[in-house]
Amino acid sequence: MSSRTPDQSPDPLAERLAAAGLRAHVMTFGCQMNKYDSAMVAGALQGQGAVFVDEADDADVLLINTCSVRAHAENRVYSLLGVLKRRKRRQPGFLIVVMGCMAQKEAKRIAERFPHVDLIVGTRMLDEIPQLIERVREGVHTPLVAIDEKPDVTFGETIARRDSPFHAFLAVARGCNKRCTYCVVPYTRGPEASRSIDAICDEARRLVDDGVSELMLLGQTIDTYGRDIGTDLGSLLKALHPIPGLRRIRYVTNHPEECREDLFKEMHDLGDKVMPFIHMPAQSGADRILRRMGRRYTRARYMEVVEAARRNCPEIEIASDWIVGFSGETDEEFRQSVSLLEEVGCSFSYIFKYSVREGTPAMRLPDDVPQDVKEARHRELSSVQERISLEKNRARIGKVEEVLVEGVSKLDATRVTGRSRQFRLVHFPGGPDLAGQYVQVRVTDATNLALLGKTEGD
Ligand code: SAH
Ligand code: SF4
Ligand code: F3S
Repeated sequence: MSSRTPDQSPDPLAERLAAAGLRAHVMTFGCQMNKYDSAMVAGALQGQGAVFVDEADDADVLLINTCSVRAHAENRVYSLLGVLKRRKRRQPGFLIVVMGCMAQKEAKRIAERFPHVDLIVGTRMLDEIPQLIERVREGVHTPLVAIDEKPDVTFGETIARRDSPFHAFLAVARGCNKRCTYCVVPYTRGPEASRSIDAICDEARRLVDDGVSELMLLGQTIDTYGRDIGTDLGSLLKALHPIPGLRRIRYVTNHPEECREDLFKEMHDLGDKVMPFIHMPAQSGADRILRRMGRRYTRARYMEVVEAARRNCPEIEIASDWIVGFSGETDEEFRQSVSLLEEVGCSFSYIFKYSVREGTPAMRLPDDVPQDVKEARHRELSSVQERISLEKNRARIGKVEEVLVEGVSKLDATRVTGRSRQFRLVHFPGGPDLAGQYVQVRVTDATNLALLGKTEGD
């Protein structure tokens, strides 16, 4: 290890990590916010000289970014930590870092059950990971637990180490001020804190300089972005719009209680760059269940927002999340979710079986829908969504879509894959030279998952 002092070196930590030649690997469970956090932590470590390896088996430092939203997500991490115990014994110097939502919520339990974990880092301390790893390497007592709630997570000028060269997530607000009764996120991520428009635009410019042309802005309820700092989402979109080289802007997740018609007017006005797609979870189509969920809107209000969206942006597509088998959900109430999905005509949906979370208000309600009924409802709603997706995708046949090409298809080396403006997956014949390009593709066929096409002129 280097014995230089800060006076002799501008960044002694970078020197120490680089000198150690750390090989790192990050595994991400959970949502897009977690993917963003993983990319930022990885970018920060890379900036300090760590080298990222494709296989977890080849790493000296394994970073596990965790999710608590459903029991299943937590159980996967617990079994992974169990498996890693033997490797920790076998591989001297191997470091295990558990970070993110589950680290925040379950730090004590993880430390007790898995003392071979080296570092447990909560959601508000992620930017400190390079320093914390260094402390572990210096021999501090482990597991080292860092779950304090700093007001801000600041990655400085870090450039995210992304899966895609052309597409990037960008967190514009962290945390959540809602209290949906089933949801753990407000407790793992804390209250909503918006980043300044200046900080967001700076990060966007750095990403564009690094090759990104499509940004996905992230917030748990993106409609409330800026409320705590005297601005709003429309102003942010207007500030990002002129950035040269930035061609597509998307944002998630919309909340039906907060989503305003003005936003769709702005989307339409900025429509050359702001893509006609929103993800606005309904969760349920039954008003009584929405009330029990603490979702403060009705089915009628959800439909009003959908109609306002379509009135202002006729091309817009709407995706949703649904929870089936929430406490007390009757068969009739489940039917109302089916009928709302049909009425909206979502382009796709994420469908979840209700999972009781410790510490949430809904824990006081009985989890009284039997598992097999939850599974049957999950299957039924999924198949309704598959049919709607297929119908909607087929309706695109014959049309031309603008596709940002991500790269060669994993399943077929003669084809490339990308996304349309409305966030549909599109496959068409082509080679690696098309990666990162915007291509006009004529749709020739469709499945429920993707469009198939060919370039004009082929
Ligand atoms: N902020 C976003 C969602 C974040 S969590 C929003 O409010 O829309 C992502 C999705 O997980 C939610 O939309 C919900 O459908 C699902 N979810 C959250 N808690 C859950 C639970 N306890 N059981 C099952 N699904 C849950
Ligand atoms: Fe959870 Fe509700 Fe906040 Fe979404 S809006 S993160 S579902 S509490
Ligand atoms: Fe995301 Fe899971 Fe946390 S959904 S905010 S990683 S609990």
